[in-house]
Amino acid sequence: MANKVLNVVLMCAGKSSRLGLNLPKVILPINGKSLLERTIKTLQNLKPKKIILVVGFKKDLVIDLIKSLNFRNIYIVEQKKQLGTGDAVKKAISKVDLNSQLLVLNGDTPFVDLDTIKRSIRDFNKKNLDLNFATTKPRDPFGYGRIFRSKNRKIERIIEEKDCNDEQREINEVNSGLYLFKTSSLKKFLPEMPKRNGSEYYLTDLIEIFSRNNKKITTTQVKDDRRFLNINTIDDYRKAHELDKIFFYEECIKKNILLKDPFSIVIDEDVNISKDVSIGPNVQITGESIIKEGVVIEGNCLINSSKIGSKTLIKPFVSIDNSVVGNDCQLGPFSNLRPDSIISDQVKIGNYVEIKKSNIGNKSKIPHLSYIGDTDMGSKVNIGAGSITCNYDGFDKHKTTIEDEVFVGSNTMMVAPVTLGKKSTTGAGTVLSKNLSENTLGITRVKEKQIPNWNRKPKIKK
Ligand code: UD1
Ligand code: CA
Repeated sequence: MANKVLNVVLMCAGKSSRLGLNLPKVILPINGKSLLERTIKTLQNLKPKKIILVVGFKKDLVIDLIKSLNFRNIYIVEQKKQLGTGDAVKKAISKVDLNSQLLVLNGDTPFVDLDTIKRSIRDFNKKNLDLNFATTKPRDPFGYGRIFRSKNRKIERIIEEKDCNDEQREINEVNSGLYLFKTSSLKKFLPEMPKRNGSEYYLTDLIEIFSRNNKKITTTQVKDDRRFLNINTIDDYRKAHELDKIFFYEECIKKNILLKDPFSIVIDEDVNISKDVSIGPNVQITGESIIKEGVVIEGNCLINSSKIGSKTLIKPFVSIDNSVVGNDCQLGPFSNLRPDSIISDQVKIGNYVEIKKSNIGNKSKIPHLSYIGDTDMGSKVNIGAGSITCNYDGFDKHKTTIEDEVFVGSNTMMVAPVTLGKKSTTGAGTVLSKNLSENTLGITRVKEKQIPNWNRKPKIKK
């Protein structure tokens, strides 16, 4: 009966020389998240007892990154000279629990999928295997080790691309770089790996050794070969950015979320989006934002750590930061919701409106050119164009209270602290500095004079 303790060896020591950046490739970000973080996060789903990282080339950069990610089960092993993948596993083996299953994975395969790993583990346990490894048949097998099988499909060996002759290169089943070993068998055969090019050891040479010794080997066929893109060249690195977007796009489509221009949209992994949402070009949604069912975000919007209620329409160029927006609201274009804005349902906030640290009640409207700060606003309030709360006296911020069904005339200055009672009204251009009682009109206006036959002075050219 196979033991279920899982150890992992992740090989990250390589020089990454084909990439030409003089950096260990595992630290490179793909759309903001490093290869290392991506791979380790996927592996953590399997709850391994240990993940042993083999580091070498510019090891401090890799160690600093892994420390910053705060995982508990990471063990570091150093491979001082990069003598190949076989040597990397040799360096790690002393840290591996003898009774464990050992998953060995190339560190440059950031999209590795759980489905393949889980199927590999299942087959391993069912058949009490010595080795299972993943293979795929990519459209272009260039660069991968080719799989050689006997006539009855028994695994015989892997030959690396550079060691194949033209005929052998025609084989399109390739090694994906994911291996599951019975640790005791691996320990036994590791010393038998032959030296290549004078000093290197290929992990893939173990396949022939296992096969020769009649060890039980099976393969797991990868369903989506894109998941095993390994990043060797700068072109692979570019492809990885695209693939990441494509995977996200495909996930969204499954949930009925439409990304209109997936390559221009940035959505953090902690964002939670419900179904039937539509997101236009150049939208960034960051932090732990929540976007509820049926929301439409038209384009060029920034939403950070905010919650947007269902069926709300967000027109272009809206910024929402650390705020909550209710259901069926309409925002924008060009609205700015600064932190601690709490917007209830069916609210309309229009163009060039800034809200800060305020509660806006149901069905209230602030359609044009306003600043509402430090305000408690009731429901069904209408704020006329150009009205603002004057909340700052040069020293302190003060509060404005606007009760239900208040009608604020255009260009009203509400000099805080001030309260506008229920159903009160202000005339256009009013500077309101005293509390306004319920059902009362507040108006401050210089009496209008009209001077007939007023001829402007003619312009004199100088
Ligand atoms: C390897 C496989 C190949 C397979 C392919 C799948 C070998 C010999 N070949 O080739 O059969 O098709 O992966 O992606 O294994 N590394 C070390 N120390 C070293 C050398 C490499 O830690 O001395 C690490 C690298 O950092 C990298 C991983 O091992 O993360 C794989 O090395 P790489 O040189 O990319 O192998 P491939 O040529 O892609
Ligand atoms: Ca590689």
